[in-house]
Amino acid sequence: MKIAFIGYGNVGAPLASRLQHLGHEVTLAAADPESASVRKALTRNPGLAVAAPREAVRAAEVVFLATPFQAAAAALEAVTEELKGKILVDCTNPVGPGLSHGLQNRQSGAEMVQSLAPESHVVKAFTIYGFENLEDNAYPACHVKPVMMYCGRDAVAKQAVGELIAQLGWEPLEVGGLEQALHLEHMTLLWVRMVRAQGHSPHMVWAVLRR
Ligand SMILES: NC(=O)c1ccc[n+]([C@@H]2O[C@H](COP(=O)([O-])OP(=O)(O)OC[C@H]3O[C@@H](n4cnc5c(N)ncnc54)[C@H](OP(=O)(O)O)[C@@H]3O)[C@@H](O)[C@H]2O)c1
Repeated sequence: MKIAFIGYGNVGAPLASRLQHLGHEVTLAAADPESASVRKALTRNPGLAVAAPREAVRAAEVVFLATPFQAAAAALEAVTEELKGKILVDCTNPVGPGLSHGLQNRQSGAEMVQSLAPESHVVKAFTIYGFENLEDNAYPACHVKPVMMYCGRDAVAKQAVGELIAQLGWEPLEVGGLEQALHLEHMTLLWVRMVRAQGHSPHMVWAVLRR
């Protein structure tokens, strides 16, 4: 698939790199192709392409948004036209003071992202763990794969993102419409509070058992 990344720091860079290694055509959307984050991502994986944001998004089938939540509006505003009809994977998390929900639970971050890019198909994914698990999600001693939950309105978009999640080695778990994003964002806060504040291992992940 043709995939563009808006934001390639802790979260975006490992996902972009791994997707490129899986055979996807991955482009970093870069207003400044010489920026430190572009150079760092290219050092990690020289197979990544770089293009101006509008060009990168126009050419992509799937666009990952992995900026700080506060930067999402400016980042999306620059490519609103080009995002029409595209799958937009929202990797952002709105985090407020004291590891609270950044929008005070009035709305999920993903629903706000959808309102900023109304003609895209937002799927919230890759948000429920820290970046350590996006770099390496192999748990070879376990009999189940770590789960990656995702949600969105559009079934075709969710199908495509679910396939990317599976290719990356997660068990994809579609949890419903975009109204579920608020609950995923609270799962993130739960994980972040446990790991970053209480000292649990960052390699603590969730798994699904069924019978
Ligand atoms: N860190 C985690 O463990 C984790 C896990 C899951 C989800 N998340 C969420 O994922 C998002 C990214 O987190 P991160 O840790 O990867 O952040 P990060 O390392 O700071 O990277 C942010 C990226 O966004 C870019 N950026 C900033 N402002 C931008 C703008 N206005 N337009 C375009 N690009 C912009 C930055 O580019 P420059 O460096 O050039 O400014 C950088 O490439 C956040 O919303 C976070 O809540 C984080």
